[in-house]
Amino acid sequence: MSDSGYKKRRSQNWFGKEGKDGFIYRSWMKNQGTPAHQFKGKPVIGICNTWSEVTPCNAHFRELAQSVKNGVYEAGGFPLEFPVMSLGETLIRPTAMLYRNLASMTVEESIRANPFDAVVLLTGCDKTTPSLIMGAASVDLPTIVVSGGPMLNGKFRGRELGSGTDVWRFDADRKAGRMTEEEMDEAEACMSRSIGHCNTMGTASTMAVMAESLGLTLPGVSSIPAADSRKKMMAHMTGMRIVEMVEEELSISKILTKPAFLNAIKVNSAVGGSTNFILHLLAIAKRVGIDLTLNDFDVHGSKIPFLLNLMPSGKYLMEDYYYAGGIQVIMKELSEHLDRNVITVNGKNLHENSAKARNWNTDVIRPITDPILKEGGITVVRGNLCTEGAVIKVSAATPSLLKHKGRAVVFENIEDYHARVDDPDLDIDETCVMVLKNVGPKGYPGMPEVGNMALPKKILEKGIDDMVRISDGRMSGTAYGTVFLHASPESALGSPLALVQNGDIIECDVQAKKIHLHVSDEELAERRKNWQPEDLGFDRGYIKLYIDTVNQAHEGADMDFLPGCSGHVVNRESH
Ligand code: FES
Repeated sequence: MSDSGYKKRRSQNWFGKEGKDGFIYRSWMKNQGTPAHQFKGKPVIGICNTWSEVTPCNAHFRELAQSVKNGVYEAGGFPLEFPVMSLGETLIRPTAMLYRNLASMTVEESIRANPFDAVVLLTGCDKTTPSLIMGAASVDLPTIVVSGGPMLNGKFRGRELGSGTDVWRFDADRKAGRMTEEEMDEAEACMSRSIGHCNTMGTASTMAVMAESLGLTLPGVSSIPAADSRKKMMAHMTGMRIVEMVEEELSISKILTKPAFLNAIKVNSAVGGSTNFILHLLAIAKRVGIDLTLNDFDVHGSKIPFLLNLMPSGKYLMEDYYYAGGIQVIMKELSEHLDRNVITVNGKNLHENSAKARNWNTDVIRPITDPILKEGGITVVRGNLCTEGAVIKVSAATPSLLKHKGRAVVFENIEDYHARVDDPDLDIDETCVMVLKNVGPKGYPGMPEVGNMALPKKILEKGIDDMVRISDGRMSGTAYGTVFLHASPESALGSPLALVQNGDIIECDVQAKKIHLHVSDEELAERRKNWQPEDLGFDRGYIKLYIDTVNQAHEGADMDFLPGCSGHVVNRESH
């Protein structure tokens, strides 16, 4: 690199300064033992780390960051690791989704405010992937994602245990008297037996697949288990590659094109990915100004064959998927559906990256000629209950319930649900439709993963494990059932969902993409006169800002001032 070349680098606006400012920018950095030559034009690579002991899925990221650094140094760059808000799905109350947008703001502002020429994003637990990509997309530097990888398969009494998926099963078994508390205790340690994120095709795995299918990772990274040494090897290679990307000026907006988003939608359908994918992909697209709508998921995703036999829709786990060949096999199988000319972060297109992929286990990854389901994607339904749409993951539903008509049993909010669901006197049977209100973006707030509300104890005791359910909330990617989610507009806005009453008839027909409340418009108008929003009592701080500005689910639930990209330029000096 010529002298004039490196002086154009963004980082040289800090480290290349002369006089007092340059002294200040470099001198304090030298307290970390950094020699002077590191500041002289080397590409500065930010390593955006979501390590945290309260984000257990990302607790191994210090080591992962070190591998990235090794690669950056080897390629002649200068790595600088920095923390951002980290969201752990299991501990955060009331729900990590409430903070996804806040985390994205910490990422965006941390990148822009500091002397980085490019960034590597270390992502793992569910929200850490979209929040980091959203933030980085609003800055638009060269960017690569390293997903931290799933846990090894859980093992319990001779059988495999899937993160999350088996928790829902165990809980149903415990409620129905088929499992004791002691057995639950034993299973607890067996499920999470290694570093990494959930080992099912839950939201974290879905997000890892999303990052790779968008072209944001080196090929194959997303499938590697966290404990496998090849994860660190790929992190090292990522560190090397990001330095090259600085020279090539291959910024994230050159990767995140409309065809890349449509590819991601198709791959998500093939792997049976989480419904949370929709919210996150919509939000990412809006950060780079791509016109993506709920219809795109339906038009491009619903006809894609479902190929991956992983929990919660199938029987295997992420470790098996990696040994079968991983994501690049899926990309190859889908070759006739994908735009394989889109460029990825390694500078090659999808076709070049997956050309040599081989399927080593066709029961785990089914060939496209023998799919698990011919059409397994997420389906968008509409009707008077959700004029802007609701979604259902068909591969995780009970086929016989996809066309159904039943009597509504309504829970006004999550507290009402918990108080009454197991009441022996609750007037409900398995033909009813369970309705949960006030769990949307504004209404909870934060749109929690409660849409797959557990069935009443008396139904479970009959050996029945699925019923039709609808809400404006989300569902864990590890969960399953005939569950309509993300109903938009949400009930907290006084939508028709807010007006459903016990005994109303609800009819769904997923193939026809319809869900209908059999109540007349006149009657709904009459009910609306008496409707009052719940007073949530948030009158300050981030949560007030969130409630005031969050968009509806069909728009990605970002805050209304966050879509778009402000670029990486900071015009004003700091001293
Ligand atoms: Fe972190 Fe599932 S709880 S990925």
